[in-house]
Amino acid sequence: MANNRQWVANKNSEDPEFFKRLANGQTPRYLFIGCSDSRVPASGITGTGPGEMFVHRNIANMVVHTDMNLLSVLQYAVEVLGVQDILIVGHYGCGGVAAAATNKQYGLIDNWLVNIRDVVRLHETELLRIQDETQRLRRLVELNVIEQIRNLGKTNIIQNAMRGDKPPRLHGLVYDIADGVLKDLEVNDSTAISDLAHIYGTEVKPLVAAHNAPLEPDAEEESSHYDGPKHDPSQQPAELTVA
Ligand code: CO
Repeated sequence: MANNRQWVANKNSEDPEFFKRLANGQTPRYLFIGCSDSRVPASGITGTGPGEMFVHRNIANMVVHTDMNLLSVLQYAVEVLGVQDILIVGHYGCGGVAAAATNKQYGLIDNWLVNIRDVVRLHETELLRIQDETQRLRRLVELNVIEQIRNLGKTNIIQNAMRGDKPPRLHGLVYDIADGVLKDLEVNDSTAISDLAHIYGTEVKPLVAAHNAPLEPDAEEESSHYDGPKHDPSQQPAELTVA
């Protein structure tokens, strides 16, 4: 609490309009999808301040298609806020990735880690060629980021946005906890998505004859309108008698 009061005082002395401006709404340029790891703070490592980045974090920066939280954040960021850049930010030394690389059992979280084990399966040949375990884990962190970019491309949210006027750019980044440097994996987002389009691409269905719809409701539609309960005193149910 004391830290918060100090922060408010500092902000107000730097810029008296700071909080007033933020209270009027947000137009962040970035969506950050990163790991929950306490050593990877979204704004700290990117030098962004309040209002600049919409943030979603989970264990090992995953894009899981049954995750309503992630999907809601993604849809809102893309369709309402209109973010221009989507960052998948992994980090070397990720505990989630390391756990998924073993056959140990960790409890409920195994159901989350299975998504990273799928990445291991997809890239097993490449990973097995790397003798050094640390290097192999570092490569798995990178491959996991690349697969999450692909997972973004599998969503109809991103597919629809890519057909729009301002398609968002997708970036795969890895943060190094050991030196603080953020590395761009330079994932070619159009390749990552378009080479999967024949399997994962979904068509936009045109709205059914929207332009032919009658301006006035027809008789059947009119009669189907619900006007609230009809009160007819003669139809009241008999009072319940308690035995
Ligand atoms: Co992590």
